[in-house]
Amino acid sequence: MTAQHELRFDLMPGGKLTGRIAVPGDKSISHRAVMLSAIADGESRISGFLEGADSLATLKAFRQLGVVIEGPDLGQLLVRGVGLHGLRPARAPLDMGNSGTSMRLLTGLLSGQYFASELVGDPSLTRRPMRRVTEPLAEMGARITTSAEGTAPLLLQAAEGLRGIRYAMPVASAQVKSSVLLAGLYAQGETCVIEPAPTRDHTERMLRAFGYAVHQDGACICVRGGQRLSGGTIAVPGDISSAAFFLIGASIAADSDLTLTGVGVNPTRTGVIEILKAMGAEIDLLNPREQGGEPVADLHVRAAALKGIRIPTELVPLAIDEFPAIFIAAACAEGETLLRGAEELRVKESDRIQSMAKGLQALGVEAEPLPDGMRILGGSSLGNAFQGGSVDSHGDHRVAMAFAMAALRASAPIEVRNCANVNTSFPRYAALAAEAGLEIVERYD
Ligand code: S3P
Repeated sequence: MTAQHELRFDLMPGGKLTGRIAVPGDKSISHRAVMLSAIADGESRISGFLEGADSLATLKAFRQLGVVIEGPDLGQLLVRGVGLHGLRPARAPLDMGNSGTSMRLLTGLLSGQYFASELVGDPSLTRRPMRRVTEPLAEMGARITTSAEGTAPLLLQAAEGLRGIRYAMPVASAQVKSSVLLAGLYAQGETCVIEPAPTRDHTERMLRAFGYAVHQDGACICVRGGQRLSGGTIAVPGDISSAAFFLIGASIAADSDLTLTGVGVNPTRTGVIEILKAMGAEIDLLNPREQGGEPVADLHVRAAALKGIRIPTELVPLAIDEFPAIFIAAACAEGETLLRGAEELRVKESDRIQSMAKGLQALGVEAEPLPDGMRILGGSSLGNAFQGGSVDSHGDHRVAMAFAMAALRASAPIEVRNCANVNTSFPRYAALAAEAGLEIVERYD
């Protein structure tokens, strides 16, 4: 734990991003690949698995639940599936670390088991709301105890049989949708989730790829309990949420010309590209192809003069993890950028509205936090947009990586503190960013 507070990024101002790089595997898909392979019949071979702390927490949990997994070895895993009913009770609490996806999806999957489980997390995860999953799961018959505040640790009692429900989600959350659908695999009858707005659909795509029927009628997504999943091969694409830092960095730094190879471009994840293009970014999707039911492309991005925009609300869930980086772009855009309808940012790995507003202000940017978003007055689309200084990431990986990119348009060095959690989603971020041209050095205080 102490190491979490000791890593800092030191950044020299200026520079540009060039060349061809590959970002690590998609975090959301990596989690699901392990979960679904584990409960499938037969073996699954996974490549491109993200070896970050979050997806490794999921992997470790399934080993504790009796699943034999070989690897990871350079992103390759061999999972010996135990079938829908083959998981075994863990002898110790399952530690989800910093990972909301692990905790919320596993709560759904484990609430249908004949044995009890306990799910715990780090201090950040222990502050995050869990009633959004425990309430619909309780409606299905799950018996889950949370803290008085509705947070972890979560105690899941042995199930006495779940029943399918029809659940209209109050928030647009892929984690809630996935949690309820995974419980639905173990429920009597049909389980349906109705989304208030489209969210990432990796669970539905991967269930289908494993031969499990998923029915979708508009915003309503349904599974029927008790079918089988068949193991297979999964090639995890590069994570667009990790690529986003480079899309923004290359857009804001003069003379940049960068290609990001093999990035997942599922339309439920590409909000960041749409937002950046609306701001004037020059991004091309090259060599489009499909990989394991997911669309993939190489992203070519060049520096561009950005302008501030009002971010369309319907794009918010499709870019939910990219706002820390988008705020950096907004600070480098001509005029005002306004984000509303994004209150979910307050319950991420940190309160991202607060963490980003504080950091932007520390770097001399006019940023006004709003209850559900942010107003940012960009500097000019050319020249420096940030003064130098010191920024705290609040232990939030995406806040840390976003502020690192700000150095490309800063007038003096920037220091980003509390960066160890970058390893949850993007191991070797600093090395890859340095390879592309960012002047970044990691320091352990
Ligand atoms: C995720 C869904 C999103 C996202 C998170 C990953 C997933 O969370 O922010 O990083 O893999 O399902 P919400 O469901 O809370 O929006």
